[in-house]
Amino acid sequence: MDRTPHIGVREITPSDGDFLVDMVLESANWEGDAVSRRAVLTSPGLARYANGWGRQGDLGLIAFDLDGPRGLQIPVGAAWIRYFPSTEPGYGFVEPGVPELAMAIIPGRRRLGIGRALLGALLVRAREGGARRLSLSVGRGNPAQHLYEQAGFVALPDAATTSTTALTMVVALDHEPVADPGTGATAVPTPSSTSAPTSVSAAPSASASAPASTDSA
Ligand SMILES: CC(C)(COP(=O)(O)OP(=O)(O)OC[C@H]1O[C@@H](n2cnc3c(N)ncnc32)[C@H](O)[C@@H]1OP(=O)(O)O)[C@@H](O)C(=O)NCCC(=O)NCCS
Repeated sequence: MDRTPHIGVREITPSDGDFLVDMVLESANWEGDAVSRRAVLTSPGLARYANGWGRQGDLGLIAFDLDGPRGLQIPVGAAWIRYFPSTEPGYGFVEPGVPELAMAIIPGRRRLGIGRALLGALLVRAREGGARRLSLSVGRGNPAQHLYEQAGFVALPDAATTSTTALTMVVALDHEPVADPGTGATAVPTPSSTSAPTSVSAAPSASASAPASTDSA
């Protein structure tokens, strides 16, 4: 049976708040089930990743299953960036002008290339939106660190938010568009993707720079 997912991508809207909480929950529980959904909602440090989506600078993408019954668009993951003030920092806070990235894919749909495709699409959007750097916090030992490194993130061992349990990472997005020597067309070199698909078919072997195909959501 072909398990290659057929995935659409759309922007996160304020009505996606509950799903964002779910994704924060999945991120917090990357190595177990220690954190409850209620804990996410009542912990200011966690809740601030999802609260009141739609404020200035919020940018995020939801991946949804295009193969759901009757055309149902079932969300399977999200990646998003949000600016935090120094008075209410995220776990990967670097400075106020650097938005923080968070992401998760629902259990059962991981390791299929969806996260990589979603992250690549988000990095393109973030750059187009004017972000020059992104930061994040990843638990030490979380295999997601490999995904981030492949996307161009580097660890900041001396960051204030780096600890014995979590690592702060940063990616620079401030590349200038360059001309394609073959066509003269400009391309935007980003660490993980050169296109901004509105939907992708994510395959296990999909590379960060080439989601398998694109469709309009
Ligand atoms: C991290 C996460 C978002 C990645 O999404 P995904 O769709 O599973 O990732 P992909 O299938 O695109 O894999 C991309 C790369 O991530 C790394 N990776 C992700 N999960 C991994 C795992 N369980 N074991 C080993 N490598 C893993 C690998 O380098 C992988 O590349 P490879 O398959 O070529 O080896 C997803 O696994 C997830 O939701 N995890 C729990 C929540 C979480 O940890 N969020 C991040 C918090 S910082």
